[in-house]
Amino acid sequence: MTRMIEALDAGARDLLFEGGRTHNAWQDRPVPDAKLRELYDLLKMGPTSANCSPARFLFLRTAEAKERLRPALSQGNLAKTMAAPVTVIVAYDPKFYELLPRLFPHNQDARAWFAGSAELAETTAFRNGTLQGAYLIVAARAVGLDCGPMSGFDNAKVDAEFLADRGWTSNFLVNLGYGDAAGLFPRSPRLEFEAACELL
Ligand SMILES: Cc1cc2nc3c(=O)[nH]c(=O)nc-3n(C[C@H](O)[C@H](O)[C@H](O)COP(=O)(O)O)c2cc1C
Repeated sequence: MTRMIEALDAGARDLLFEGGRTHNAWQDRPVPDAKLRELYDLLKMGPTSANCSPARFLFLRTAEAKERLRPALSQGNLAKTMAAPVTVIVAYDPKFYELLPRLFPHNQDARAWFAGSAELAETTAFRNGTLQGAYLIVAARAVGLDCGPMSGFDNAKVDAEFLADRGWTSNFLVNLGYGDAAGLFPRSPRLEFEAACELL
């Protein structure tokens, strides 16, 4: 495989990480559906175990869809979520393994690993679905969008309102749009290498 570049330059690293912030306020600038497709086509390439790809994404970008979400939101997340151009429900399919014959074609035994153990299936779906939610955040930044991830909401209400008929489970929410820097909190410190890492 030939790579187009060896590593990201300082500007790209800034966009993705060093300058990437969690946004709470949004410019009055819409996000076209084509941008959401562009975002998904990047994030879907992030790795998952056995390529299981358990995450499912509901992009709420109409007033009607947002109103359905409103009763599930915590007070602190209410106004900014209703104001965001798009809110993503990052969910996962606990029965993701039904698609493994297509997604992991070189091992047709893979479906059976999970079909026989609800516990293994749930752990795998949650782990990899969460990873895919993180890929969504980074991919959003890569396509020029800002994010506001949130776990402050009633998962059971979201599941009942949006996901029950599909059998999917909500994990977390991500507001998407073009951020208004006026709504940023001061950047909080991160753990330094010595506190978070060990070299063995
Ligand atoms: C999974 C997850 C859940 C979060 N839940 C909330 C939330 O419910 N409400 C909120 O205001 N911020 C929430 N945050 C935002 C974090 O507090 C924020 O990302 C963190 O402090 C880093 O901020 P920074 O990206 O601006 O440095 C959440 C972030 C993540 C990744």
